Amino acid sequence: MQNVDHIAAAGIAAIESSSDFNTLELVKAQYMGKTGELNALLKQLGQMPPEERKTVGAHINECKNRFQTAYNAKHEALSEAKLQAQLAAEALDVTLPGRGQNSGGLHPVTLTLQRVVELFHSIGFEVAAGPEIEDDFHNFQALNIPQNHPARAMQDTFYVENGDVLRTHTSPIQIRYMLDKKNPPIRIIAPGRVYRVDSDATHSPMFHQAEGLWVEEGVTFADLKAVFTDFIRRFFERDDLQVRFRPSFFPFTEPSAEIDIMGDNGKWLEVGGCGMVHPNVLQNVNIDPEQYTGFAFGIGLDRFAMLRYGVNDLRLFFDNDLNFLKQFK
Ligand code: PHE
Repeated sequence: MQNVDHIAAAGIAAIESSSDFNTLELVKAQYMGKTGELNALLKQLGQMPPEERKTVGAHINECKNRFQTAYNAKHEALSEAKLQAQLAAEALDVTLPGRGQNSGGLHPVTLTLQRVVELFHSIGFEVAAGPEIEDDFHNFQALNIPQNHPARAMQDTFYVENGDVLRTHTSPIQIRYMLDKKNPPIRIIAPGRVYRVDSDATHSPMFHQAEGLWVEEGVTFADLKAVFTDFIRRFFERDDLQVRFRPSFFPFTEPSAEIDIMGDNGKWLEVGGCGMVHPNVLQNVNIDPEQYTGFAFGIGLDRFAMLRYGVNDLRLFFDNDLNFLKQFK
């Protein structure tokens, strides 16, 4: 029975050299399984004299205990190694600086639009809107621009289906609002996208306008000049800003004018069109031109944004270059 020590030593050595759980379990089964080598020794005890049986049995059990202890230690070592490998693989360097958060901002044209709306809102104008695809009636006819009238050539139009157009100006919102509301007093500011077949450094096929309209008994051109001049001085935060109303023509206003402001370079700069609402337009929306008068104006919001932020190429607004846009946050 000297081979008890032999077998135990071989088993413990096999345990210690196991490098993974699979091998470890196979070694355990080989020695401690029902028919394993250490248990096989116990079966031989029966053939021994009783005194010997006692000491040899105790010795075998002691060997089994040592084997089990070696197994437990190895199992724990392998578990620990597995955990360490996993931790190393999923390592997280908490000392790295954070990446920070990028906060978005509003587009400079949106900021301009909001500023215009706010200023008019503060003097009692309501915000109005209309569709970007317009029909011929609202975009032209009701605004006193009959079919085949040469004035249509002032606006190079994108035609859609059935003679509908991408609205060429925000003026159709005047028509929609007046037909809807019916009774003066009417005071609206109506911003939105408009479209024309036009593209260069100062013209984009899609651009932004804001339409202003005030219809009430007794409204005059003097009101137009006062309201607009006050607005534009507040917009540019310049109390001494020079404003000029230069006679012009629009089919839907009479008299009509272009609005110019004095630039820093001493040159006049056009910022919009305006005039007294043409009696035909009032008639088209069932408002009596003998009782009511009104003024209207249309301004280019992109032009306002260029002036306010010192941008010299309109196309920058629509390139969606974040390096440009994030300057306005
Ligand atoms: N709708 C005109 C344009 O886009 C501007 C305008 C609006 C002129 C209102 C007079 C009155 O050119």
